[in-house]
Amino acid sequence: MSKAYDLIEEDEQYFAKSGRIKYYPLVIDHGYGATLVDVEGKEYIDLLSSASSQNVGHAPKQVSEAIKNQVDKFIHYTPAYMYHEPLVKLAKKLCDITPGDFEKRVTFGLSGSDANDGIVKFARGYTGRPYVISFTNAYHGSTFGALSMSSISLNMRKKYGPLLNGFYHIPFPDKYRGMFEQSQPNTVEEYLAPLKEMFAKYVPADEVACIVVETIQGDGGLLEPVPGYFEALEKLCHEHGILIAVDDIQQGLGRTGTWSSVEHYNFTPDLMTFGKSLAGGLPMSALVGRKEIMESLDAPAHLFTTGANPVSCEAALATLQMIEDEDLLQASTEKGRYVRQRMDQWTKKFSSVGDVRGVGLSIGIDIVSDKAKKTRDNEAALKICNYCFEHGIVIIAVAGNVLRFQPPLVISYEQLDYALDTLEDALTALEHGDLEEYDISGQGW
Ligand SMILES: Cc1ncc(COP(=O)(O)O)c(C=O)c1O
Repeated sequence: MSKAYDLIEEDEQYFAKSGRIKYYPLVIDHGYGATLVDVEGKEYIDLLSSASSQNVGHAPKQVSEAIKNQVDKFIHYTPAYMYHEPLVKLAKKLCDITPGDFEKRVTFGLSGSDANDGIVKFARGYTGRPYVISFTNAYHGSTFGALSMSSISLNMRKKYGPLLNGFYHIPFPDKYRGMFEQSQPNTVEEYLAPLKEMFAKYVPADEVACIVVETIQGDGGLLEPVPGYFEALEKLCHEHGILIAVDDIQQGLGRTGTWSSVEHYNFTPDLMTFGKSLAGGLPMSALVGRKEIMESLDAPAHLFTTGANPVSCEAALATLQMIEDEDLLQASTEKGRYVRQRMDQWTKKFSSVGDVRGVGLSIGIDIVSDKAKKTRDNEAALKICNYCFEHGIVIIAVAGNVLRFQPPLVISYEQLDYALDTLEDALTALEHGDLEEYDISGQGW
C-alpha cells in the first residue's frame, strides 16, 4: 500500500463522511504557486484552488511571511472586547474595494457560511422584515442561515430539518439552460415571473428583507445570468424596499478579474460577503454593507470570539497587497481570455462540450450527452476529472456535469497550456470511448 492509501484509510476511520465530497485519492503534502505536490512527491497543476480559496496560489512568500510575523507578535485577542490594528486596516481596505459609493461598515467571521448568516441578521434587523429570497441551486454554506438560503443538494436538507423559517427560492437566470432544464434559456421577464407571482400571491413584497444573489452561480454550475436580469431585479427591489445582498465568496477577490464580481454588472448591492481567498486560505470571512444597515444591530448580535483574528487579518492584508503588486486582477482577465481562445472552440470540436462560460478565471465547461437537448452527462464529467488527475491535473465537476476551471490567478502560461492539452486529450479519449475504465462510483456532488 502507498502512503496515500494508508492515510486515506486512516482518515476514513476518524473523519466524518459528511465533510468531504469525494473525487480521487489526492493526499497533499505541500504546494507552491498553482502546483500541488502529493505525499508520494508527484506534482499536479491545481485548477480548483482549494475551492477558489487560493486565488494568490499556494504558500506565497508575501502571505506566509505576514502570517509568521504576526504569529510572533500575538496570535489572537478577541475583537469582542479589545482592539487591534490589523482589524482596522483590513476593515478600511475592504470598505475601499467593495462597490458602492456610500459609507460602509464591516463585520468579520470565520467562514463564508457565517458571513451569509450575518446577511440574514442585518437585513432583518434593518428592515424589520422577516423574509429572505435566494436562488435555486445556490450554495451559500453550511450553517443554518446559509443552509436555509441554499438549495443545491438534498443531503444539505435531509435528516436535520427544519431549517430556518421565512426563506424562499426563485430560479437563477441561467444564460445556457432555461428553467426546469429546458434547452433554451428564458428571458429576463420569464425568470422574474416566479418572483412576481410570489409577491402577488403568497409572499408580501413589503415583508421581504433581502434577496441574496451570486452574480455567477458557482457550485450551481458556474452559471452566468442572462443580460439585464440583475438590473431588472434591482429595480424591483428598490420599488419594494428590499435589500440586495451579494455572496461574492467564490467569485470575489480577483476570480473574475475584478475585486468584486459585481463590477461586471450594473447594480449595487447593499450588503456583500467575502470569504475563501480573503486571507489566502486562513479561516476568515467579511460582511461589508451600508453603514446604516450595519449599525442597525447592537452587540453582541454578531460577533465571534476568534473572528478578525490578527494572523488572518495580516494574511488578508498581504493577500490583497499581493493582488495589487502582481496585477492579479489583470492577470485573471488576461489568462481567462487566453484559455477561452482555445476552450471556446471546444463546443464545435467536441460533441460532449455543450457550453464554455464564465468570466476571468472562473470558467465552467458543461459536459453533455446530447448537445441539442443539453442533457447533462455527469458520468462523462467525472471520467474526465479522473483522466486529468491521472495526468497531473486537479479538476472537479460541479452541478454534476460542469468542469470547474478556477486555477490560482498566479498560474503560469505553460501550466495553462498543459492543462488545456490534457483537457483536450481527455475529451478526445471520451469521444473514442477510452475512458470507460474509470470507476467513478461514490464520486462527485
Ligand atoms: C458562493 C459561496 N458562498 C458561501 C460558501 C460557503 O463558504 P464556507 O465553506 O467558507 O463556509 C461557498 C463555499 O463553497 C460558496 O461557494
